[in-house]
Parts: sequence; structure tokens; C-alpha cells
Amino acid sequence: MFPSHCCTCTALLVLVVLAMVTKADQEEKHCDLVGETAKESKREQALLKKLELLGDQRFEKSVSPNQEENYIYVFRVCREVNSSLPQSGLVQINQKDQKQTVVGRINETQVFSGSDWIMLIYKGGDSYGSHCSGEKRKAMIMISCNRKTLAAGFTLLSEEREKEQECLYLFEMDSSVACPPEDTHLSIGSILLITFASLVAVYIIGGFLYQRLVVGAKGMEQFPHFTFWQDLGNLMADGCDFVCRSKPQNAPAAYRGVGDDQLGEESEERDDHLLPM
Ligand SMILES: *[C@@H]1O[C@H](CO)[C@@H](O)[C@H](O)[C@H]1NC(C)=O
Ligand SMILES: *[C@@H]1O[C@H](CO)[C@@H](O)[C@H](O)[C@H]1NC(C)=O
Repeated sequence: MFPSHCCTCTALLVLVVLAMVTKADQEEKHCDLVGETAKESKREQALLKKLELLGDQRFEKSVSPNQEENYIYVFRVCREVNSSLPQSGLVQINQKDQKQTVVGRINETQVFSGSDWIMLIYKGGDSYGSHCSGEKRKAMIMISCNRKTLAAGFTLLSEEREKEQECLYLFEMDSSVACPPEDTHLSIGSILLITFASLVAVYIIGGFLYQRLVVGAKGMEQFPHFTFWQDLGNLMADGCDFVCRSKPQNAPAAYRGVGDDQLGEESEERDDHLLPM
């Protein structure tokens, strides 16, 4: 009994240690924001969580600034491009001599967003030689909202290195992770409409049941306040008749009062005379 118990214990311990090691390993390779872990911006952390969806992918773009030069840019979101280049998030490979230059590192990540874009910045790349006062390279990747794709269209937009400072490589790509959440909220108008429709339904059904079960009405009388609605319908029809009809069907009431019958007879008589001819 005792040894098997101990075995279980040991196995559990090994599992826990293994899990911790794997976790530490994963954390090491992820994007690290500027500042200590506890003081990182919540907003940036939320954005990184969104970007995690792109973590498995690897983006490549071949660029030839002129006939002699040809570079391939390799980019990964919060993962190392090549484990032999520590913390490399975006690497430039010179196709002529296979020389690899780290443009930006994931342990110096900065990220911010707008309504339909996310800007991911990797700083701490390999230092420039003669350009830009020999500062460290920096990559900026503009991710624009595109609901049709998880990730596509990774390209180099420009390389700015003819400055004294703050040089940068600017990239762009499309992704659905940069999109704002789709608005599924109902407008106030539709809420009012739904409420009104529900009230009407409750009124009709409740009234119907009341008239049928309590009052004991039959046929059309089962509708709640049947006579009232009938009167209202007639009133509305009259109103409509009064407002909308262009030619009055009957002569105004003032005339009708006196000799309605006579007029009718007269016209009938006239018609009678006309008919045989
Ligand atoms: C990673 O870098 C090493 C040397 O820096 C290179 O030999 C190797 O081909 C690279 N791997 C990939 C997948 O690019
Ligand atoms: C990021 O990693 C690189 C390579 O390991 C290292 O040289 C650099 O100091 C690190 N940057 C920060 C801010 O820790």
C-alpha cells in the first residue's frame, strides 16, 4: 500500500514540476511589454491576448529594393522567429549571403490600437552600422481590420533609415483580430417596438381569455373591448373618408336634409326617360 501511495505522490510532483517548467518556457517566448510584469498596462495585455490568435503563424515577405539586393522579412506575432536568435520577432534575411538581422525583439514589445487597427512595435533589434547614429533597429507592424481573414497581406511599407534617430521599418497586414466587436445591441427604437408588440399580444390574448372564460362571450365578442374597437374603427374610417376622399360621394349634409328624396326621384325619372332612347 505504502509504496504505491508514494509512487502516486512522486508522479504528481513530477507532473506539477513539468507543468511549471512548460509554463515558464512558454512565458519566456511570448511578447514582453515594456516595464515590470506587475506594472504592465492592462490595455496592452488585453491587446496581446487578442493577438495570441496569430501566434502559430509565420509571415514572410520577399523584398527587392533594387536588382542586387533581395531580402526576406520573417515575422511572428509574439513568438521567436528563430530560436537561435534570442527574442527575435522580426528578422531580415539577406538572400545573397543568408545573413540574418534582427529588426525587432519580442521582449521589447509595445502595442496600442484604434477603432479598427492595432499597432505592434518590436524594439531592441540589432544595431545599425553607419545609419541612424548606430541605434537599435525597430519594427512597427500596422494590423488593419479585415473580417474576411485571420491574417493576410504581410508587406513592408517603408524603411526609414536616413535619419539621425528614431529610424524604423514599417510593415502592414490585415487581420480580423483588429476589428471592433460586432454591434449586436438593439437600438432603443426596436426595444420600444418589441415592448409595444408584447403588450398588444398580452392585451389581446388576456382579454380574449377573460371574455371567453369569465364573461362567456362567443364569436367576435370574445375580443376585448370589442364594441369600443368597432366604434374606433368606424370613427377612423369616417375620418379617413372625410380627409382623403377628393370628390364628395354625397352632397353635403345641409342640402341632403331638405329634398334628398325628391332629388333622387328626379334623377331616377330623368334616367328613365333617357333609357329607351
Ligand atoms: C536560424 O538561425 C540559424 C543561424 O543563425 C540558421 O542556421 C538557421 O537556418 C535558422 N533557422 C531558420 C528556420 O531560419
Ligand atoms: C531582450 O533580449 C535581448 C536578447 O536576449 C537582450 O539583449 C535585451 O537586453 C533584452 N531586452 C530587455 C529589455 O530585456
